[in-house]
Amino acid sequence: MATIIPVASFDCVVFGATGDLTTRKLLPALYYRFKDGQIPKTSRIIGASRSAMSTEAFRERARDAVKRFVPAVDIDETKLADFLEHVDYVAVDGAGEEGWSDLAAKLAERPDQIRPFYLATSPDLYGSICRNLSAHGLIGDKSRVVLEKPIGKNLKSARAINDAVGEVFPEEQIFRIDHYLGKETVQNLLALRFANTIFERLWTADVIDHVQITVGETVGVEGRAGYYDTSGALRDMVQNHMLQLLCLMAMESPLSLDANSVRDEKLKVLRALKPITPNDVQSVTVRGQYAAGAIDGKSVDGYRTDIGGNEASRTETFVALKLEVQSWRWAGVPFYLRTGKRLPKKLSEIVVQFRASPFSIFPAESFGREPNRLVIRLQPEEGIKLEVMTKDPGPGGMRLRPTNLDISFEETFKQRYPDAYERLLMDVVRGNATLFMRRDEVEVAWAWADSLLKAWADRPESPRLYPAGSWGPTAAIALIERDGRTWHEEMN
Ligand code: BG6
Repeated sequence: MATIIPVASFDCVVFGATGDLTTRKLLPALYYRFKDGQIPKTSRIIGASRSAMSTEAFRERARDAVKRFVPAVDIDETKLADFLEHVDYVAVDGAGEEGWSDLAAKLAERPDQIRPFYLATSPDLYGSICRNLSAHGLIGDKSRVVLEKPIGKNLKSARAINDAVGEVFPEEQIFRIDHYLGKETVQNLLALRFANTIFERLWTADVIDHVQITVGETVGVEGRAGYYDTSGALRDMVQNHMLQLLCLMAMESPLSLDANSVRDEKLKVLRALKPITPNDVQSVTVRGQYAAGAIDGKSVDGYRTDIGGNEASRTETFVALKLEVQSWRWAGVPFYLRTGKRLPKKLSEIVVQFRASPFSIFPAESFGREPNRLVIRLQPEEGIKLEVMTKDPGPGGMRLRPTNLDISFEETFKQRYPDAYERLLMDVVRGNATLFMRRDEVEVAWAWADSLLKAWADRPESPRLYPAGSWGPTAAIALIERDGRTWHEEMN
């Protein structure tokens, strides 16, 4: 069990305290950190939202949230009761005047605390909340602001949000969350690449044939129709999570783990991404939308029914892309990205396909297969698998077959994987921004996404329908097969 180092005492104000993110993720994450002794008992979690509510009533909600989203084996009733003692509530109108003096009075009780302001609200409110924080004198050296995605819907709106927040907070105090960066297995990519010389030396176009990044989900839009139908998979998953994964795979070694060193390197990858133009949009992208089908043997509705019967919706729930990183290291190595809702499995993985040997000394019939492959499983069944060729045992001649060098993190470490938010919230308190996105990263990623969104918008066709429970439209298979390659789940 790793040693837990307590963070400094803090007052974390969570705007959007009655919302989904607070209930599902933030309160459970804070409970775990409290239970493990990482949060000092002088700290407070102050819920803030427009609803008039007593502290007791908010504590009841917090208790329900923890009970619902933390597995029963991890609930320690005494510690939960103690945790709730540190939960407080103030009714504040983020966009108006109400409640700010109450919040100011509460924070003034403990002027020396670290003060994270977590904006788990609609991004439309980020600007007004920040202006109010400043107008009420609540921002000091120990304050930080945490912004949830989506940071904008395109470059223009992202800039407007960044400008509004940047007027009152310096960049070092702004923590833009991409929760994928807080996942243990995603951080492990840094360890894999930069703590193991064997891989780093192979990480080049000479040795790697291509890379696949898949983030599949079985869920549909889950009651988020209003948001999702104006977003779609490109904005919801690719512009942020998937590009961040690509950056960690493709970046050069940073000078150190210091926030700006890591972010400088990721930024270079984003800048090196070849923009997708109207000319190549048809050959390197596929958009899909799920139709009715079955997940785990149960029938499910199609997207248009899920969003309340808008038969005209052209929102994509699936995207497959072939991307190029224009750098010496990656010239000629395609990165195939794929993400979608209502796919057959919840699965996030990165597959690095190595090139075939230039010729084989083995008889053709013993060798007809794919060359080496490194599979990094981000979730579930987290681990790393390296497929190597071995000789089939026995006297029957030289027959070869692929065998796995397989590390399952669950079996190796035998401990719970903390949720991404646990790590990220503690990093905010520590003031460590390595796993958060800097303004320029977000904006360069939007500039790239904007050109693709524009190319799509100019095309007459709608996303292709795929049955729920399949791996997306068949065009996504064709996208990679045109290059003589196959998606990982079809390789074996
Ligand atoms: C969120 C998206 O950022 O990530 C959701 O808005 C998606 O649509 C979720 O379901 C996936 O996260 P995870 O951690 O479940 O892979």
